[in-house]
Amino acid sequence: MVTITNLVYLLSAILFILGLKKLGSPKTARRGNSLAMLAMLLAVAVTLFDQKILDFSYIIVGLLIGSAIGVIIAKKIQMTEMPQMVALFNGLGGGASTLVASSEYFHGAAPEVSVLATIGLSIFIGTLTFTGSLIAFAKLQGIMKGAPITFAGQRFFNAVLVLGSIALGALFCMDPSNVTMVMGILALAAILGITSTIPIGGADMPVVISLLNSYSGLAAAATGFVISNNILIIAGALVGASGLILTNIMCVAMNRSLANVLFGAVGSDGGAAAGADGEKKTVTRYTAEDAVVMLDNAQSVIIIPGYGLAVAQAQHVLREMSELLESRGLNVRYAIHPVAGRMPGHMNVLLAEANVPYEKLVEMETINDDFQNTDVVMVIGANDVINPVARTKKDSALFGMPILNADQARSVMIVKRSLSVGFAGEDNPLFYDDKTMMLFGDAKKMVTDIVQVLKG
Ligand code: TAP
Repeated sequence: MVTITNLVYLLSAILFILGLKKLGSPKTARRGNSLAMLAMLLAVAVTLFDQKILDFSYIIVGLLIGSAIGVIIAKKIQMTEMPQMVALFNGLGGGASTLVASSEYFHGAAPEVSVLATIGLSIFIGTLTFTGSLIAFAKLQGIMKGAPITFAGQRFFNAVLVLGSIALGALFCMDPSNVTMVMGILALAAILGITSTIPIGGADMPVVISLLNSYSGLAAAATGFVISNNILIIAGALVGASGLILTNIMCVAMNRSLANVLFGAVGSDGGAAAGADGEKKTVTRYTAEDAVVMLDNAQSVIIIPGYGLAVAQAQHVLREMSELLESRGLNVRYAIHPVAGRMPGHMNVLLAEANVPYEKLVEMETINDDFQNTDVVMVIGANDVINPVARTKKDSALFGMPILNADQARSVMIVKRSLSVGFAGEDNPLFYDDKTMMLFGDAKKMVTDIVQVLKG
């Protein structure tokens, strides 16, 4: 049985790695997900059989209940709510690691010092991930305010919590019978999860969620050492490493250091009125008919999708509009900013859902030099990713973030409901540019209107 179990674990590990690899491209991502799901099913099932934890009927019933809950959540959750759902999953993963490590401790058999240290580590990272993820969830779900919550001496306080946990961990290894030490680590980690997440602004939450995802992997790997389970160590390490890589990709895309994300207290609740500098600026409101007149005289169009496209669920009608424009001889492409929307690959997923061909989606680095030769740029529900202050305004949260060069096109159309700021809370001078046409309205409604006129 041990050989069979290890062979199945090996197969699961291979499937996890293949699954991760396939997630690298939108074309293969679904298959990657299926492979990883199969790997997880195999790993869970064989562990339960091998350890004789439960009998067959319980496993089936558990699978059915768990799968039903998973399917219902996946169907109910809106795409824009995906980051908070991932936050919740991470939190539950961290909490599970804490529970498994604690049960191993309370189980009895006096373990060696190395195992005790791992139990302490597992409880520490698992609990920190649990409470931190709940805060991230609450901020993104609007249960808590998204703005950073800071207090004097916060970093010092957090450092004391970390050092206190290390000290308790050392005492715990010296005297494993002292339950107070375990409870102490648990309590300090729970507070640290909260106090290290509340100062992070809502706009930075996806980065934090990715980091917490990495922590949940580390907690799982530590728990794998505690209970000597190879696949838990491998899967935990894969989650830990991929979470860190993703965190780094997001930081690079925003041109921010991880330290700035974690300690910079950047961001607001969003939605503040534009023109906060007191300067009076004017814009002209245009209609769907005006947009079509402009498009009729164009040969090339670049569409820039953003968070508002996801909110409005306008991706299907947008594809219809693109096809109508193409049938009129226009060259239509989509420019994809790496942090457009609220989660990595958000725009790719959204447009893939509407069956927009992958080859029409062009990454920022590839398309950025083409804007200057483009007749019309259509910005649909995007804001920060085209905000030119990222190049110039040193005290802006956006400063240094590479942006799409929408302002270099011959004319710019921006579809959004108002002059409100984007997630970074920064007014956008492109709205007031002479070559910009503001098309105020919900993205789905406005693009539908344009489609009607095009069909005319
Ligand atoms: P944002 O800058 O957040 O702007 C989105 C705009 O969509 C808003 O200004 C809003 O304006 C508009 N909008 C909302 N609902 C709409 C609707 N129903 N119809 C039409 N427009 C609507 O979005 P972005 O340009 O995609 O930039 C993403 C931001 O998130 C960046 O700051 C990025 O750094 C941050 N972020 C992203 C990630 C990832 S991984 N994607 C991770 C961390 C941070 P109105 O209210 O006027 O309509």
